Amino acid sequence: RIFADPKEASKSVAKEIADLIRQKQKEGKNCVLGLATGSSPKTVYAELVRMHKEEGLSFKNVISFNLDEYYPMEPDAIQSYWRFMREQLFDHVDIPKENYFIPLGTLPQNAIAEFCNSYEAKIDALGGLDFQLLGIGGNGHIGFNEPGSLANSRTRLMMLDHSTRAAAIGDFGGELIKVPKKAITLGVSKILQAKRVVLLAWGERKAEVIAQAVEGRVTEHLPASYLQQHNNCLFVVDMAAATEL
Ligand code: GLP
Repeated sequence: RIFADPKEASKSVAKEIADLIRQKQKEGKNCVLGLATGSSPKTVYAELVRMHKEEGLSFKNVISFNLDEYYPMEPDAIQSYWRFMREQLFDHVDIPKENYFIPLGTLPQNAIAEFCNSYEAKIDALGGLDFQLLGIGGNGHIGFNEPGSLANSRTRLMMLDHSTRAAAIGDFGGELIKVPKKAITLGVSKILQAKRVVLLAWGERKAEVIAQAVEGRVTEHLPASYLQQHNNCLFVVDMAAATEL
């Protein structure tokens, strides 16, 4: 779906999430959300916070799993996805603290594999993700599943591409050496198992990768292209990101 601007698009996505949360509330069930970081989802979170404050939308039945976190990364660091999620959403709504999960960037190396397995097991025990929100990297990554990630890839520690690290340089004082070389990411297979997937992209800089992901071949060289094979996936873009379609 192509919207005039990111604000209008974000309102529509936030409404879909809010409707799902409310529907699950009526059924007396949890709403299991897969959440994303990056600049793209900020306007969606802002709209959800507004709905909480002005319309009484409650997050008490929400259980969320974030896609990824840099490694290594302290949860309180400026660039941490823990901090991002608290600042953009969690600190402003009534989600219980024990209900949100984000990969930990402070784990010792030898504890990462077990952590990743239990992260997936927690999602499975809840019946899987009801809804997965995604952004897209300039190289077609989803979460931090870089090109080369297979459709059956599991949650794991990933080496970041040079282009991904270069794109993040502004968050790290303009010094490439300060951008972590690795990240923990939810695997492609868990993303594809979500019952609904919505990917966001704004601006001209995403136009080419959006066209490739939507109209190109399904290939591990562009992990977002796997979403063509999902039966309930929507790409939400603004006019500028749609120019190459
Ligand atoms: C990072 C995140 C991705 C995100 C991407 C795009 O690499 N790990 O999940 O989709 O950035 O970010 P932005 O939305 O700022 O363009």
